[in-house]
Amino acid sequence: MVVLLIKEEKITYVEDIAQGIESAPGALVGLFSGRNVGKQVVVVARENTHTLKQSKMGEEINNKQVILNNYVKTSVKESDMSLRTSKIQLKIPSGCDGAVLVKNLYLSCDPYMLSRMKKLEGHYTASFTPDSPISGYGVSKILDSSHPNFKTGELVWGSTGWEEYSLIKDPSLLFKVHDKDLPLSYYTGILGMTGMTAYVGLFELCSPKKGETVYVSAASGAVGQIVGQFAKTAGCYVVGSAGSKEKVDLLKKKFGFDEAFNYKEEQDYNAALKRYFPDGIDIYFENVGGKMLEAVLNNMRLHGRIAVCGMISQYSLEQPECVHNLSNLITKRIRMEGFIIGDHYHLYPKFLEMVVPLIKEGKITCVEDIAEGIESAPGALVGLFSGRNVGKQVVVVARE
Ligand SMILES: NC(=O)c1ccc[n+]([C@@H]2O[C@H](COP(=O)([O-])OP(=O)(O)OC[C@H]3O[C@@H](n4cnc5c(N)ncnc54)[C@H](OP(=O)(O)O)[C@@H]3O)[C@@H](O)[C@H]2O)c1
Repeated sequence: MVVLLIKEEKITYVEDIAQGIESAPGALVGLFSGRNVGKQVVVVARENTHTLKQSKMGEEINNKQVILNNYVKTSVKESDMSLRTSKIQLKIPSGCDGAVLVKNLYLSCDPYMLSRMKKLEGHYTASFTPDSPISGYGVSKILDSSHPNFKTGELVWGSTGWEEYSLIKDPSLLFKVHDKDLPLSYYTGILGMTGMTAYVGLFELCSPKKGETVYVSAASGAVGQIVGQFAKTAGCYVVGSAGSKEKVDLLKKKFGFDEAFNYKEEQDYNAALKRYFPDGIDIYFENVGGKMLEAVLNNMRLHGRIAVCGMISQYSLEQPECVHNLSNLITKRIRMEGFIIGDHYHLYPKFLEMVVPLIKEGKITCVEDIAEGIESAPGALVGLFSGRNVGKQVVVVARE
């Protein structure tokens, strides 16, 4: 009964993964203070077997794909996508020099993908093509390569198709997975684009200093949870907002935020921010936009910094809302700066140098929301826009 319910996505399950046998005592003790979020598991070792037998190389096999049915106008629904099974040959076709053929293991669900489902003009990223598989960030294993920098058997993360196998003709957006001690799925999140986004927005744009006050919206999500923990490592006072009591508890108990509140229970965002920041906000990490941004502008301090990472409250609207209170930028000399993470990947090695030891020493952690099977991908992606995800939304296509 239960296997069927899981496969049909009628029940789901959140795991709290502690890495390495060294983390086992802490993980066990955490059960008694409620530090765990969901089932507490300790990973002692991960099987590293290649489940695709050599005999399959070169064969034509089935390839399940997530297809965009048609352009989306406002919000996205599961029915805007469908699952199709096509065929793929497990070998790079002749004439495809510089390509790699990969088996996709984990896919990352990211809010920006909604923009790509729309018919875009003059946007920083291209629209998906209707009736074709969509693409995004993922973690993959190289099955065949005609590119001098990539070898069969290597693990990579970066841009790939939402399908079981992808022929990537331009692998320039792939990064190698170097540290195999950490869970591979982390390369969809804390060790990949998401972690980089938190790092660049907070450290490069806002330069946090000890004792400063930091506010993070959508704080329990993929980017937000990392921003808050990074800000704590910099000695800041950190407050986050999120959309449920469960998420607020997570922020305080798991991620070490000083305070957190459920924005859905607040009638007046201005009053809520005054309560948590009586002397004002030095740094705002903007993930949501709209009315929250308006309230934040009124509560910023002199020489405050705002990293404009995302505005998820606006993505599904036909007409984006107007933002009031912008004159605070002048009177308080606030620097408000938007960024696109794709412009900053040259900082990836510097980022890894900082983040890997922090994870290994248990100084920062991350919570993932794992959806099993490519069939669950459309629902997982759509769930971002109603806050169904708890932490980084990942889809497991295959475990190596
Ligand atoms: N600039 C860049 O290069 C870049 C890169 C990555 C991500 N981003 C942006 O960063 C933000 C966070 O992305 P993520 O990957 O970390 O996603 P996420 O936070 O893991 O998931 C999205 C969360 O947003 C919240 N949300 C959804 N609709 C909302 C609404 N109408 N008002 C307020 N909150 C809403 C929900 O949490 P609650 O339950 O708390 O409402 C939901 O769980 C997004 O705006 C995204 O576009 C930007």
